[in-house]
Amino acid sequence: MGRPTPRPRSDAVEIFTSIEGYRAWRNGLAPDATVGFAPTMGALHPGHLRLVAESRKANAFTVVSVFVNPLQFGPAEDFSRYPRPFDEDVRLCREAGVAAVFAPEAADFYPPDFSSYCEVEGLDEFLDGASRPGHFRGVCTVVLKLFNIVKPRRAYFGQKDIQQALILKKLVRDLSVDLEMQIVPTVREATGLALSSRNVYLTPDEKTRATALSRGLFLAREAWARGERSARALTGILRSEIESSRPARIDYIEAVSQADLRPAETLSGPSVLAVAAFYGKTRLIDNVLLD
Ligand code: PAJ
Repeated sequence: MGRPTPRPRSDAVEIFTSIEGYRAWRNGLAPDATVGFAPTMGALHPGHLRLVAESRKANAFTVVSVFVNPLQFGPAEDFSRYPRPFDEDVRLCREAGVAAVFAPEAADFYPPDFSSYCEVEGLDEFLDGASRPGHFRGVCTVVLKLFNIVKPRRAYFGQKDIQQALILKKLVRDLSVDLEMQIVPTVREATGLALSSRNVYLTPDEKTRATALSRGLFLAREAWARGERSARALTGILRSEIESSRPARIDYIEAVSQADLRPAETLSGPSVLAVAAFYGKTRLIDNVLLD
């Protein structure tokens, strides 16, 4: 069998706000039709569209979900003010050649008697898992439910949220979910700043200062490429770059192993250097892979 023929970009995009509506469309596709899936919370930017582009290369149909998932936000986090430019998201999906947008209503997706949750143990003790209790339980629950509805052959996640991508990969493996997980490199602005839907919260000055995150990560990666394997030395390079940009607060700076996402003193195998820091009230994350 050859590569699937992607749909032409001019096709209309289907929009579904109910699970039944989406399922009727999905069940109407040929049994061997390949569906690629990029779950998102909307406010789409070129990072999300990179997932779509990767999906279009390998699948006949690409589905994007747009759903700001209340389960993964802590009580003091930005759920209610998270940006929701839905019409613009649909326009971007149409232009990118997305076949269907699935944008459920929270009340349908989580009816009042909803009480089933999904958790991956062990990979959430550090990084965002430590700072955002319950966050990955919310992510795993929504993504497993979305997989059951969307029924993709392949699912696409960004390296930008590396802990999320590795936890979901483990979930798929542990629970034998029948799909392929793909991790797509981080898309950045020319300044190096990783694209994020939350960047709209930044003032111009905060946005300039936040370029220290990627600058520090790249400096540390260069040191790693020259042979530096001490976690303290690598995180030190990153920390001093970030401190000079006057963040409101550094949440964490960690060098962890890719296998278990635990900090190591000496980096032996494939690793991740990751940071979370606040500029103003906005929490930004970024990472580089050391492998
Ligand atoms: P969201 O933050 O909207 O991100 C959706 C997907 O886009 C994630 O896989 C994320 O890693 C990827 N992404 C975001 N910025 C990126 C960038 N600059 N380069 C490459 N990929 C990028 O992550 C979520 O939503 C949610 O947790 C979700 C998985 C949808 C579950 O609710």
